[in-house]
Amino acid sequence: MENFRIAILGCGTVGGGVARILLDMKGELSKRGNKNIELVKIVDMFPKKSSDKHGIPLNLFCGNGEDLTKDDASKYINEIMNSKDIDLVVETIGGSSEYILNTVLSVLNSKKHLVTANKALLAKYASIIFETANKNQKIIGFEASVCGAIPIIKVVKECFTGDEIILISGIMNGTSNYILSNMVENGFSFDEALKLAQQKGYAESDPTLDINGGDASHKLSILIKLAFGVDVKIENISVSGIQGVSKEDLSFANEMDCKIKLICFAQKKNDSVYATVTPMMVKNSNFLSQINGATNAVRVINKYSGENILIGKGAGSLETGSAIVSDIVFISKYSDKMSNVYSSSNYSIKDLNDFLFPYNISFDTEDAPGITGFITTEVGNQNINIDTVCHNRHSKETAIFSIATMPCTLSQINKVIEEIKKKRPDVLKSQPKIMPILY
Ligand code: HSE
Repeated sequence: MENFRIAILGCGTVGGGVARILLDMKGELSKRGNKNIELVKIVDMFPKKSSDKHGIPLNLFCGNGEDLTKDDASKYINEIMNSKDIDLVVETIGGSSEYILNTVLSVLNSKKHLVTANKALLAKYASIIFETANKNQKIIGFEASVCGAIPIIKVVKECFTGDEIILISGIMNGTSNYILSNMVENGFSFDEALKLAQQKGYAESDPTLDINGGDASHKLSILIKLAFGVDVKIENISVSGIQGVSKEDLSFANEMDCKIKLICFAQKKNDSVYATVTPMMVKNSNFLSQINGATNAVRVINKYSGENILIGKGAGSLETGSAIVSDIVFISKYSDKMSNVYSSSNYSIKDLNDFLFPYNISFDTEDAPGITGFITTEVGNQNINIDTVCHNRHSKETAIFSIATMPCTLSQINKVIEEIKKKRPDVLKSQPKIMPILY
């Protein structure tokens, strides 16, 4: 059987999981991939630590098992690039620095296939990476970059080619979902829940990206490129995170028969794709509301086949590792029949400003007779049809209440707020919070 030799750059949580599976399943993977799939080299700064943690023989690591300096690591990476004995490189270093970009470009320029879980890098530099791969006729596997073990890339790329994707929505960041679930189920504070998520290894090294929606927006941008063919720039997606979600918001959601979830949403309409990453109030009748803890879920709506749902582990060493190994096997077997299809259409990306959506607006107001009436009247004045007005939460000085609307636009809601401030400047105690409601 022909050899198919693998090198791994970066043997942390994900790289270690890849190595473990390649070693455990070597025989079976080789049968599936129709080649002798063999892990031959690993470059990692701390070989002993990685070897102990993942049970990987030390002799697979470059540098006699000693800790490496950055220069050592670069030297060994260069040796791998120049080696004719490596067929595929797994990049699990992470991050989107120029160094990482140059590393993956040299993998491709040195005529090796590339498999990566690096969503931040793909979100930022997809076009140059794919251009370089195509120029060198090499394949990029990136199944692990979106929702860990869930095979959403293959599904979007290969399985719906007989249909047209209209809408993708999902929970694509386990850390924020874990935090929100624990705040609801166990009454944890935001900080307590974040700490637990970090201890369990769900969070990125910089958890800011998990909390502020950045990590989820990287994943959504990759799916938008695949599903709708748009070479979307990350800064063109409107993103907000879960930092501002309060106990009151959670209690209004409960009153509205909803859960609050950080939702990735992209819908094609005419020549536009409306996209956002934002906390939404998800109706309990929508299955996304039932996804708790660090689990990820993606809902794809197609023109002909309707709703399709995938649920699974979005993070974790062996979970994400399994997605990388599945790419390795696929490339081993089919590389000469595969191509890197990525973006091809010119749809424009729009935020939800003029998109009809039902919203929940919570108002923090002066606590006095007539205020609820005044505000609901202003909502009606902008031709917004109200669905529900929730109970006022009275404190000594303020009352907070929320209004759920029938579908309307953000522009209409912003006009309501502008009119309230103009007519009675003292009524609003803080900026109202606006959250889409997902049915
Ligand atoms: N930190 C991510 C999450 C996992 O919490 O979902 C890797 O993307």
